Amino acid sequence: MSVARKLRVAVVYGGKSGEHEISLISAASVIRNLDSSRFEIIPIAVTKEGKWLEQDLSAALPSGTKSLKIVTSGAKACQFKIGEKFSVTSGGVDVVFPVMHGPLCEDGTIQGFFEISDMPYVGCNTLSSAVGMDKDIAKRLAVSEGIKVVPWVTMKKAAWKKDSAAFMTQIEHELEFPCFIKPANMGSSVGVHKVKKREDLSAAIEDAFRYDLKVIAEKGIRAREIELSALESLEENGETLVSIPGEITPTHEFYSYESKYLDENGAELMIPAHLSATHVQFAQDTARKVFQVLECEGMARVDFFLDQDSGEFYLNEINTIPGFTQISMYPKLWEASGISYKELLSRLVDLALKRSRIRSGLLREWHAAECVNGK
Ligand SMILES: Nc1ncnc2c1ncn2[C@@H]1O[C@H](COP(=O)(O)OP(=O)(O)O)[C@@H](O)[C@H]1O
Ligand SMILES: [Mg+2]
Repeated sequence: MSVARKLRVAVVYGGKSGEHEISLISAASVIRNLDSSRFEIIPIAVTKEGKWLEQDLSAALPSGTKSLKIVTSGAKACQFKIGEKFSVTSGGVDVVFPVMHGPLCEDGTIQGFFEISDMPYVGCNTLSSAVGMDKDIAKRLAVSEGIKVVPWVTMKKAAWKKDSAAFMTQIEHELEFPCFIKPANMGSSVGVHKVKKREDLSAAIEDAFRYDLKVIAEKGIRAREIELSALESLEENGETLVSIPGEITPTHEFYSYESKYLDENGAELMIPAHLSATHVQFAQDTARKVFQVLECEGMARVDFFLDQDSGEFYLNEINTIPGFTQISMYPKLWEASGISYKELLSRLVDLALKRSRIRSGLLREWHAAECVNGK
């Protein structure tokens, strides 16, 4: 009996994004937990400047360290050729596992690069990555399928510059205070502001425009923050799997960058969230629906607000490459729902191969003769 060779999985981490550091911690966990009996790991670092570097595993992740280190001196720059499958010094790559967050990492751009390179890759495709990253577009799609979101106002930079007073009045009347101001495409609460009075609105919006050309304002609610993990089924027509819900309770005014990453006691994770059976069912059904409506593939974490005043569930956002540290909500929720971290990673790689297998059957051009002959 021949022994199948191990699949060569390139874990790509770092990235040209504000979430570079968290990616180094997430990817360290992923690398440590990928099943070594099935996979050979190829670490690839993307520096903050956007350089792709082949890394030596033992140098990048010495034992006992929590975070990957990007070794630049002597590191070989990746020599990927446009339109060709990835190959590194030690040989070819079978699957890419991007563990990076934010713009240029999670928003479909890098996924498009994997597509044109014909590389199977973990997680959402270009379309759902882009849609999931854009809080305005994601809401519009969700709303069109009857999923509730909090009232919001979208501002493009040029329009804001032209008539900021009109936007401020609209926000004041339609959303009232407090409201939340956010860059449409960002994450980790970067550029997010809670605004309590009109005088502070303009500065918050200007700040959010430093990160994106589109900014949204949202009605601020007294929300419990409920999150669920969604995972595509390995079967071709299988139903999307959804975990039990978890809850995040920030100890800060909201779940800000500080409470996420700088303050060790910035937030409490509760798994499972204390919810009624009806609420659990509703949250799970809605999370599955969001995953399908946004045409997600592979994985996504779906975040809701449970309004403490009205009792309504609202979709907050979807994260197509959620945090992956050992204490991150996405893998934790699966663990609590019966899928271990290691098994989860194996499934994600298998899902990447599943998509690539299915897509490989697609025609790339018009086959007139076959149509005519009914072949
Ligand atoms: N409309 C809102 N009402 C109440 N809290 C909000 C609202 N929008 C955002 N927040 C708070 O801000 C945090 C970050 O906002 P979010 O939209 O999740 O951005 P990010 O993509 O950066 O995580 C949320 O986790 C929550 O604590
Ligand atoms: Mg969030």
